[in-house]
Amino acid sequence: MSTTTQNQAQRKKVTVRTFRQKKKRGEVITMLTAYDYPTALAIDQAGLDAILVGDSVGMVVLGYEDTIPVTMEDMLHHCKAVARGAKRVLLIGDMPFMSYQVSVEEAIRNAGRFLQEAGMDAVKLEGGRERLETIRQIVAAGIPVMGHLGLTPQSVNQFGGFLPQGMSSRPAVRLYEDAMLLQEAGCFSMVLESVPARLAKTISEKLEIPTIGIGAGNGCDGQVLVTHDLLGLFERFTPRFVKRYAEVYTVMVEALQAYKGEVEARDFPAAEHTVDMPDEEWETFIQETLDD
Ligand code: KIV
Repeated sequence: MSTTTQNQAQRKKVTVRTFRQKKKRGEVITMLTAYDYPTALAIDQAGLDAILVGDSVGMVVLGYEDTIPVTMEDMLHHCKAVARGAKRVLLIGDMPFMSYQVSVEEAIRNAGRFLQEAGMDAVKLEGGRERLETIRQIVAAGIPVMGHLGLTPQSVNQFGGFLPQGMSSRPAVRLYEDAMLLQEAGCFSMVLESVPARLAKTISEKLEIPTIGIGAGNGCDGQVLVTHDLLGLFERFTPRFVKRYAEVYTVMVEALQAYKGEVEARDFPAAEHTVDMPDEEWETFIQETLDD
C-alpha cells in the first residue's frame, strides 16, 4: 500500500460532528465541489474535509448559463458518481431549484433521496427566514442541512445578476438575522457566498455552527470553491474571489492537440501501444487467406 493510500485509510470519516469539533478547536474546514468519480477520489486523497456536489454542475459541467435548469435527476446522477469515489470526506448534496420550494413534504422527500439513493451524508439548500419550516422538518427527518446565504445563485433572477449581497447596512442586518435563524432551525453549518468579509467574520464569530465562505473573506470557519474554477477548467468567467491554482484547461487543449498531431503523423499508436501475434500464426493466417 502506498503511503498516501495508507494515510487515507487511517483517516477517520468526516461527519457533521467533525465540523462542530473543528470550529470549537479553531481549525479551518476545507471543502470543494465535485461532480464525478475521479475528482471525488482526488479530493479524498488530498485530505479535504468535505465535498459539495453543487448545483454549479449546471454551469461548469452541463454548460448552462446558471443553475436554474438543474434537476433532481441531474443531481442524483452526479452525487452517485461522487459517492463511489469519496469514502472519507463529508458528502453534501445540493438541492436544486424547485426541489424544496414548493412544499415542505416535497422538500423532505427530495432531501431523503440524496441520502437514500445517492450516498450523500447531508444536503444544502439556499435561503434564509423563508426556509425555516422546511429546514426544521428536514432536520427532524434525520437529515443534516447546510444553509446558504448571501449570493444564492438560484435567486439570480431576483438579484438581477451574480451580485455581492449584504453590501449596505439594511441587507447586512437581514443577512445577520437570517444566519442566526438558520442556526436555530437546526442547520449544522452554512455557506456564506459573496458577502463583505467583515460581515461574514462577525456572523462566524457569533454563530456556534461553522460558516463556510466563498467570496466572503478569511474570517469564516471554512472555505469552499468550485473545483473547476480553482483548477482553471472553467473558462467562461472567473469570479474575483477565485484563485486559480492550475491551468488544467490549457493543459487539456495542449494534450489534445499533441494527440491529433501524432495521429495525423502516424506516430501514434507506436509499437509499445500495439499487440501482435506470433510469426507462425501470422504465416498460417496468410496461407489460409491471401495465398490463393
Ligand atoms: O453549487 C455550488 O457549487 C455552490 C457553492 C458555490 C457554494 O453552491
